[in-house]
Amino acid sequence: MSIFSRKKRDSETIKLGAKLITVAKPQSPVSEQFRTIRTNIKFMSVDRKINSLAFTSANMTEGKSTVTANVAITYAQAGLKTLLIDSDLRRPTVHSTFEVNNSKGLTTILTSDKKEISLDDIVKPSGVENLSVLTSGPVPPNPSELIGSKRMRDLVTQLKDKYDMVVIDMPPVLEVSDTQELAGYLDGIVLVVRQGVTQKPAIKRTVELLKIAKANILGYVMNDVSAKNGGYGYGYGYGYGYGYGYGQKKKHFWERLKK
Ligand SMILES: Nc1ncnc2c1ncn2[C@@H]1O[C@H](COP(=O)(O)OP(=O)(O)OP(=O)(O)O)[C@@H](O)[C@H]1O
Ligand SMILES: [Mg+2]
Repeated sequence: MSIFSRKKRDSETIKLGAKLITVAKPQSPVSEQFRTIRTNIKFMSVDRKINSLAFTSANMTEGKSTVTANVAITYAQAGLKTLLIDSDLRRPTVHSTFEVNNSKGLTTILTSDKKEISLDDIVKPSGVENLSVLTSGPVPPNPSELIGSKRMRDLVTQLKDKYDMVVIDMPPVLEVSDTQELAGYLDGIVLVVRQGVTQKPAIKRTVELLKIAKANILGYVMNDVSAKNGGYGYGYGYGYGYGYGYGQKKKHFWERLKK
């Protein structure tokens, strides 16, 4: 059984928003996998409290927005005051996912002339208890510069004080260079890898760039794991890599890349 139609992959989320299975079917195995991702993120960061977290990928349409929105929901469902930020100004989706107005958003804050700007009418309730959203706002001609700006970093610092968890949907590393600037500033980064789509050299390069940026790479989410490859057979599976490759003679590719 496949929940999604793969043919429409390119535009579906952009127009209709990400599928929120954690809201629609919180008891389903897929929602359980999203909760497992949340738990594993915690285990991967015992020495450092993760208060700001971003999901990114090598290239586009690997599942970032779907994973980011659903993981943010699992934090909110666990009782954490959570904020989901759409920093993918190239292909923003959070406003469609949560059906909120996008006339003001992240770009409104980042391009404002005022030193202090009230977040109250820009950050919106998502409809999910404990979860607020900061949508992209109108997309300017220089989107990546804004995401890599000091102002963006200052904003994240400010928001970390107000929320228990700030979760960011980031543009793909290989396509938007300024992603790295922000990545190095956050408590943790998780890579979304699409099974059978993301090429290993692309993952390798992405990890290299994130390491140069001094990003704290926590691991990866393997999206779209098919039954054939050991997933759950929904055509929608998530695995979370610790990078240890338990019981394997050959080291897992993630283990090799992280070195
Ligand atoms: N596990 C999955 N199984 C089937 N389809 C999926 C899966 N994950 C995501 N999709 C579909 O793939 C498309 C891309 O997903 P999504 O928008 O979440 O990725 P993205 O990396 O944010 O893309 P973009 O580069 O456009 O920001 C969407 O149509 C989504 O519904
Ligand atoms: Mg996206």
